[in-house]
Amino acid sequence: MTANEKVAVLTQYLPRVADISDRKTAEAVAEVWFKALEMSPWDKFDQAKFKEGMDDVTLISHVNSSIECALSLADIIHKYHGCTFDKQRIIVLGLLHDVDKVVEYVYNDEGALVISEIGQKIQHGVLTAMLAREAGFDIDMLHLIITHTHDQNMKPKFKEGVLFCYADLCDWEMTCRFSD
Ligand SMILES: [Fe+2]
Repeated sequence: MTANEKVAVLTQYLPRVADISDRKTAEAVAEVWFKALEMSPWDKFDQAKFKEGMDDVTLISHVNSSIECALSLADIIHKYHGCTFDKQRIIVLGLLHDVDKVVEYVYNDEGALVISEIGQKIQHGVLTAMLAREAGFDIDMLHLIITHTHDQNMKPKFKEGVLFCYADLCDWEMTCRFSD
């Protein structure tokens, strides 16, 4: 599959890929997702799950929702306080932040959705950052990927990272703690 075709396929699942302003970045995002898919038991991106024990929430729905939430928060805070945000940074971080979840949850022999060996041994965010580095992303994006999770201690050094963490956590809480 060509880089162009990978971008087109990923865009079918994650429409915000189409809003990435430069082609090279869009291709690099697609490369990271396809690398993770190759490592996973899934055939398609929408088979990937969001959390162990929860069959009904897809990773794709969480990624799309958290990006939309973050962009809406950015608009509202700009409207009332004039804060400006790098929306490209929010979109690319949102698209990348949870790629490693493609390989962190698997079905066991009893058919239960469980945390995979990678998920148990590699801290969330680290594998995504490794794949992102291979795809050419800079140290700032690796920093944002790693600091998006409370699994580690460092705080995001960019406001887009802080903003995205709230949107991501909100979507996580609403889907994982409240099911209605
Ligand atoms: Fe997330």
